[in-house]
Amino acid sequence: MSEFRPGLEGVVAFETEIAEPDREGGALRYRGVDIEDLVGHVTYEKVWGLLVDESLEPGMPEPEPYEPKSLSGNAPSDLQAETARLSSEWSLGKLVDIDDEQARDDLARLSAQMMSIVATSAAVHDGRRPAPDDVVEQGDTAAEKFLLRWRGEADPDHVKAIDTYWICTAEHGLNASTFTARITASTGADAGAAMSSAVGALSGPLHGGAPARVLPMLDEVARVGDPAAYVKDLLARRGRIMGFGHRVYRAEDPRSRILKRTAKELGSPRYEVAEALEGAALAALREYKPNYVIATNVEFYSAVVLDVAEVPPELTPAMFATARVAGWSAHILEEKRTGRLIRPSARYVGPSARSIASVG
Ligand code: CMC
Repeated sequence: MSEFRPGLEGVVAFETEIAEPDREGGALRYRGVDIEDLVGHVTYEKVWGLLVDESLEPGMPEPEPYEPKSLSGNAPSDLQAETARLSSEWSLGKLVDIDDEQARDDLARLSAQMMSIVATSAAVHDGRRPAPDDVVEQGDTAAEKFLLRWRGEADPDHVKAIDTYWICTAEHGLNASTFTARITASTGADAGAAMSSAVGALSGPLHGGAPARVLPMLDEVARVGDPAAYVKDLLARRGRIMGFGHRVYRAEDPRSRILKRTAKELGSPRYEVAEALEGAALAALREYKPNYVIATNVEFYSAVVLDVAEVPPELTPAMFATARVAGWSAHILEEKRTGRLIRPSARYVGPSARSIASVG
């Protein structure tokens, strides 16, 4: 294929058995299982198992005792740096040199540890001391342990909010960060390098960074009291309404449906303003782009659900990364089994041959 597609839109880069959004039907299945059948029935760590091992058991392991070297409290960059550092601290083998079983175990260790890194970084961000291992061990589930590490306590509503959010965002086919993870894995680098490069890709506002911008938007709408005027003004300035639009989905995002329901069940104080803004945004976007379906994406109600768990907006990209460790691990393993270096081409459109003197 030699045709150039900006943003690689519509380009099929891999075949995958892990998950793929059902573009028209608005469903998302992990290894064939609808996420509606997972949320509230199994915990995130079992979903990790489903995605990575195609089996709920044993799932993601317990995190190992954790001694961070130096955390800044800026969770996405702490996570990226610490994950890369673990490669050398744990002497992880290059994917090209180890067997699939070893790679799976490396990814399992890393996934559990990445949760601890974010929880610890979040504690630093809040100016508190992360809870010691003996407190964390009192938690039964990954979400409980995460909150215990961060805050020393795990409110059941916060646990439900985080577990639901993690399951809904654990995997989503080939997006920017997963592609990045697969590219790094395809070079035969170690699992820590593949995971940390994915974290960097996820941190941008057009991918995992969007929820950080949703809550300020909700605050502004609550302040102004007129969602229709707010979105009209934003679109007139050619701004983007965060939490709307998707490169793949042309129907309601099934994750958004579940997260909206969860926000309501958990009595989110922002539910009403979110619903009002959603209605106004969808109506305005239909008028703004009549030939292009722009629906509510996962990030909009993610922001509301994470707010129930008292996750501040600036920590939401790192929360997305903790969820995605499952999908990334599954894709890194699938890429390892493929064993083919990813190396596309670029069409050169620069100056033709010229002398150095002409450069000036
Ligand atoms: N608000 C306002 N205008 C929009 C929006 C939006 N949310 N989404 C798309 N458009 C407009 C866009 O400005 C463009 O207009 P024009 O052709 O006049 O320049 C047109 O619709 C097509 O946009 P695009 O960027 O080419 O479309 P895309 O399908 O590649 O965009 C997107 C996908 C997610 C980058 C985009 O919808 C967006 O920026 N949304 C806001 C940020 C956001 O919510 N990101 C989270 C994405 S979902 C989870 C994830 O992948 O991590």
